[in-house]
Amino acid sequence: MEIISKKVERTIEIGRAIGEAVGGGEVIALIGELGTGKTHLIKGLAKGIAAGQGDEVTSPTFTLINEYEGRVRLIHIDAYRLENAGQLEALGVDEFCEAENVVVIEWADRVWELVAEYEPIGIYLEHAGPTERKIRLENLPATMEEKLSEIF
Ligand SMILES: Nc1ncnc2c1ncn2[C@@H]1O[C@H](COP(=O)(O)OP(=O)(O)OP(=O)(O)O)[C@@H](O)[C@H]1O
Ligand SMILES: [Mg+2]
Repeated sequence: MEIISKKVERTIEIGRAIGEAVGGGEVIALIGELGTGKTHLIKGLAKGIAAGQGDEVTSPTFTLINEYEGRVRLIHIDAYRLENAGQLEALGVDEFCEAENVVVIEWADRVWELVAEYEPIGIYLEHAGPTERKIRLENLPATMEEKLSEIF
């Protein structure tokens, strides 16, 4: 499905709705150019799993991985500085992808060959104007797609 977000708050709401619908075990691949709203969408995800207000979510520039405790644990990996899928594997991604965690990978296209093995939910973000973003959701579980299409 495809959603147009006309302001940053909307992108956060979309993330929150996805966060509310996850149960653990999901792998989410975020793909989009610089500044398309990947990190803001993850702020919403954190809210949706009840890990605070999302304010603590930033791009994990130096750490590569951040974890947020909520209803389930949210593992946020930023693959921007990774050069290949082997480096993601070395971070122990396989251990993170467990039933009690939701793993979200920013810049998943940089390490797609490994990420694809987890059959992730795909979230593609594109610039569509100064404050407008086109957000395409792929491979959503049916129940999540139903919920989201009721809201958006
Ligand atoms: N509709 C919108 N949705 C999301 N962000 C928006 C929107 N309109 C404007 N913005 C702005 O775009 C920027 C998005 O920043 P954000 O850090 O979330 O992007 P990103 O994709 O994570 O970037 P990076 O690739 O640098 O990590 C913010 O400055 C935000 O205020
Ligand atoms: Mg970011």
